[in-house]
Parts: sequence; structure tokens; C-alpha cells
Amino acid sequence: MRDAGKKDRGAITTPFAIQAASLAHAEALAAIHAACFPPGARWDAAAFAAQLSLPGTFAEIAPEGGMSLLRAVAGEAEILTLAVAPPFRRRGLGRALLDAAISAAARHGARVLFLEVAADNIAARALYTAAGFHPLGRRRHYYPDGGDALTMARDLSGK
Ligand SMILES: CC(C)(COP(=O)(O)OP(=O)(O)OC[C@H]1O[C@@H](n2cnc3c(N)ncnc32)[C@H](O)[C@@H]1OP(=O)(O)O)[C@@H](O)C(=O)NCCC(=O)NCCS
Repeated sequence: MRDAGKKDRGAITTPFAIQAASLAHAEALAAIHAACFPPGARWDAAAFAAQLSLPGTFAEIAPEGGMSLLRAVAGEAEILTLAVAPPFRRRGLGRALLDAAISAAARHGARVLFLEVAADNIAARALYTAAGFHPLGRRRHYYPDGGDALTMARDLSGK
């Protein structure tokens, strides 16, 4: 376990204990995911277990209520999902998870990190932009609800 982030907000300091997730965390990952996404977009424990069994796929979990899932292959990585349960938002945990994901992707040999985010997801877009991701393109009607996705990328060569 390692302390992946601390954020000063005036008098409040919030430490997060972000750790690598294993198959044993599949239920916990699914529970956090279910708290963050609508029914049709949720991944259950079996889906997380299947993802974590794939080469190059790894997850991190914060007991406070956050998680990320990434895949790194051939020098490129992708954030498959990243989420913070509603009661724990706006405390810096999303940014701490993202910073941990960036470091983990670099450790797995990625030189660039990609992601997709719903065009109307203001919170996630602000999070990713503040962390150095830039927009690459737009996938129209990408999601089942007809919403567009933005693709974004971040260079990891300085990590
Ligand atoms: C996006 C998400 C992970 C942010 O988690 P969080 O813990 O609240 O994020 P942080 O507290 O670390 O905020 C980091 C930055 O993100 C931006 N941000 C976060 N929530 C925001 C909101 N509701 N509105 C605008 N900007 C927001 C801000 O720039 C913020 O920095 P600031 O607090 O200094 O202003 C969280 O809202 C979430 O899980 N949403 C549902 C799942 C999701 O959309 N995941 C991403 C797509 S895969």
C-alpha cells in the first residue's frame, strides 16, 4: 500500500491509501463502479475479474471509495474506467487516482495514455484537462444513450 496523494484544501488535508487491486478486489471494484455509473453501464465483479485476467490490464483501488482500471500494451495505455463514489467526490481522490494511474501506466512501459470521456461529463473532462490530457477527437453517438465521446491523450515521456 502506498500513499498516492495528499491534497491541501485550506485547513483540511486528505490522504488517500491507493493500492494495486487484484482479483480479490473484483467485488469491491464492481461496488464502486455501480455507485458511479447507470445500470446499463455498470461492470459486475465477473467483468472486473475477466478484465484483470487479461495481460497488461491492471487496477488500483482506494478504500475511501475510488478505483481505476487500465490496460497497457506495446507502449500505449488506456484508462478503461476511473471513478469515485459520490460521497467521496471533490476531495482530491479522483486526481490522486489519476496521478496513480499515470504513474502505473508509465511503469508498465507506456509512453502515451489514452481515454474516452462522455462529451457532457464536465467533471471528468475538467479532471483530465487539469492533469495534462488534450483532446484528440470526437466519436459521435458513441454511447448507448446517443451521447458523443471525446478521445483524449497524455504524453508520459516525462514520467
Ligand atoms: C470524475 C470523477 C472521477 C472526479 O472525482 P473527484 O474525486 O470528485 O475529483 P477531484 O476531487 O480529484 O477533482 C479534481 C478536479 O476535477 C474537476 N472536477 C471534479 N468534479 C467536478 C465537477 N463536479 N465539476 C467541475 N469540475 C470538477 C476539478 O477541476 C477538480 O479540481 P478542483 O477540485 O481543484 O476544482 C468523479 O466525479 C466520478 O467518479 N464521476 C463518475 C464516473 C466518471 O465520470 N468517471 C470518469 C469517466 S470514465
